[in-house]
Amino acid sequence: ICKMIKYYKETASTQTAVKKLALKNFGEGVVVIAEKQTKGYGRIKRVWNSNAGGLWFSMLLKPVIRPDGSSILSLLFSIALSRILEKKYGISSEIKWPNDILICGKKVAGIIIEMSAEQDIINWVAAGIGVNINNSLPEDLKNISISIKEVLKREIDRTEFIVAFLTEFESLYFNFQSGGFKQFLEEYNSKVAYKDVLVTVDSACNDAITGKNFGIDESGRLIIETKNKIEKIISGTLRRA
Ligand code: BTN
Repeated sequence: ICKMIKYYKETASTQTAVKKLALKNFGEGVVVIAEKQTKGYGRIKRVWNSNAGGLWFSMLLKPVIRPDGSSILSLLFSIALSRILEKKYGISSEIKWPNDILICGKKVAGIIIEMSAEQDIINWVAAGIGVNINNSLPEDLKNISISIKEVLKREIDRTEFIVAFLTEFESLYFNFQSGGFKQFLEEYNSKVAYKDVLVTVDSACNDAITGKNFGIDESGRLIIETKNKIEKIISGTLRRA
């Protein structure tokens, strides 16, 4: 999947950089990596702490799927990250829907998906991934975030990590495009964080919803059983109720 790598010692955000390349008509498979980001950002415009030692990268994709299926891509990235943590480092992780990777309840990686689409056609998708690898975390994040170095008590080779990740993602991505998401549903749901417990989903457009977390359906929607009914949620941010 990786056709070209653009590497920065420091840039504002690999996400901003890859979107610029998308507008210049670069094709699928461009990967932008930075040692440090000065304006790294996450979902809902949150600041993403991007000190040296972490793995900060963005990838340009041009999937042949309907635009409303693009949020599924972030689930695929989560599965790929979670598989690598398990297979290569023996670390078991959970996925906090839609796409935070947790180790021992603390966030080790985050994913952001941005896209440009017209009618029913996706022009491009910019997928940004941040993994806390060897970076030290600021005091105020220490109780909610974790790095792989902290877990394994040793430095991790970031090149090895990204190579393993891109290889894993490539096969997931091609299988998804030919066979849809259903084949990954069971795996994703087996890793869902806060499963069968009361959670609240906050979203920008709707009221918060609280209920029991049943994991996702085959369109990637989160199934929540509230007092009165079953809700299927397309996007939002989940927390323990
Ligand atoms: C989130 O959890 O909200 C998503 C975090 C995404 C962070 C990555 S780091 C590389 C890329 N560049 C950015 O500015 N953001 C993403």
